[in-house]
Amino acid sequence: MEFSTTTTAVLHTLKTQALAVGVFQNGILSPAAEALDQASGGALRAVVKTELDATPGSSLTLHAPSGITADRVILLGLGEQASLKASTLGRAHEALAAYCAKAGLTNAVSTLCTLECPDADLADVARAAARIVSAATYRYNATFSKAKPAVKLRNFTLHLNRSQAATARTALDQGAAIGAGQNLARMLGDLPPNVCTPTYLGRTARDLAKQFKTLKAEVLDQKKIEALKMGSFLSVARGSAEPPAFIVLRHTPSSAAARQAAPIVLVGKGITFDAGGISLKPGPGMDEMKFDMCGAASVLGTLHAVAELDLPREVIGIVPSCENLPSGTANKPGDIVTSMSGQTIEILNTDAEGRLILCDALTYAERYKPAAVIDVATLTGACVIALGHVNSGLFTQDDALANDLLTAARQAQDPAWRLPLDEAYQELLKSNFADMANIGGRPAGSVTAACFLSRFTGKYPWAHLDIAGTAWLEGKQKGATGRPVPLLVQYLLGQCPA
Ligand code: BES
Ligand code: MN
Ligand code: ZN
Repeated sequence: MEFSTTTTAVLHTLKTQALAVGVFQNGILSPAAEALDQASGGALRAVVKTELDATPGSSLTLHAPSGITADRVILLGLGEQASLKASTLGRAHEALAAYCAKAGLTNAVSTLCTLECPDADLADVARAAARIVSAATYRYNATFSKAKPAVKLRNFTLHLNRSQAATARTALDQGAAIGAGQNLARMLGDLPPNVCTPTYLGRTARDLAKQFKTLKAEVLDQKKIEALKMGSFLSVARGSAEPPAFIVLRHTPSSAAARQAAPIVLVGKGITFDAGGISLKPGPGMDEMKFDMCGAASVLGTLHAVAELDLPREVIGIVPSCENLPSGTANKPGDIVTSMSGQTIEILNTDAEGRLILCDALTYAERYKPAAVIDVATLTGACVIALGHVNSGLFTQDDALANDLLTAARQAQDPAWRLPLDEAYQELLKSNFADMANIGGRPAGSVTAACFLSRFTGKYPWAHLDIAGTAWLEGKQKGATGRPVPLLVQYLLGQCPA
């Protein structure tokens, strides 16, 4: 996918298969739409009146409009002009890309980025456009007997004012990298659990390290994990015949100056299938627990983007990965395990396995003396109940880190919502037989899960993203979303020298 810019003043002579312009409610045309309307003798205004309500996400195509060189003009609804939001432009670009994909177009031009958006700057809008268009070209193709046709869209151009072009160029490169990272995360999520195993995730990390010279991969096997005394992680892995993997993927920026700052560590939950273990999950919908490695996938996808951009900041991805299955060797309720930190854990529910593998990865992260550690996990069903499929749950005691992540979420149109982490919730994890239990009961299930993790993060600033509701879509559109790759890359971009 190629992204480019044009600053031509004469839109009606632009050669493209699809020229996209914004239209507001009550028949108000954007300046670009106004220009085309005049060139075509009123063709746009005529249809807008009767056939397009211009609500966000709506669209209408004019074929071979007279007086205009483009094959089509695509009218994109933008809602009320007074309250134009960056997310509305994002939705419009999504609609445009979906149209281009369906119609088999190879190129398109969007004029939307010339519109002023009170809640975002040009870089954010352009970056989101490139990311959304890249993501729209994703097609899962790995396990069909006959390959589905790939999306043909190759060239996407932003029409801009002359003063905007340089800013947009950088943002487009960033957006393209984010989109590619997001698509990698989606592919890994969508692959079946008999293909996407811990070993497969390890191989993916190694392949990335081959592809990008700033990346180095290390995959620790069972023996090495044992040597590190990761008793909590290993207790989850032991129920499965599939060997576990502890993956470390490190980006060392090529700029020496950029290597001075302490690294940022991302930790991703890599349960490639979560049957619940002995605390077995109910059958219906259990296939969706192949998505329980989407945290891991988002970390690998983020490192892909980071490497492609040669981001001037050291970033380390850590992925503990195994299956959670019931078997004769599986851990069981009542078992007490010793984590790498030395703290003991009474396993009261084997289905609360994510925190059991993450806690050892969080302890491992201490060795990097990181500036911040962010873990990403499909951790709790309770988070889906609390926030649905819109916001990822954000937990941290660090207000500055919370602010950076929430700002990035807004900029990247990948929303997150902060949930509490008060000390008072910690007592729910009390055990009569170990330093802590691995569950806190039904109330505040997402909070107690975060509280559990917090006990392993005392040595660095830390945040936790619960993506149980946002990592994949259910039903007819079942599939991984690649979230929160946009949020994570945006956060990392903000942590680089200006
Ligand atoms: N992977 C699940 C969380 C999950 C459930 C994500 C449904 C998305 C949809 C996690 O390992 C789990 O099973 N959590 C339990 C914790 C409970 C036993 C305390 C849950 O949420 O039910
Ligand atoms: Mn579970
Ligand atoms: Zn799980």
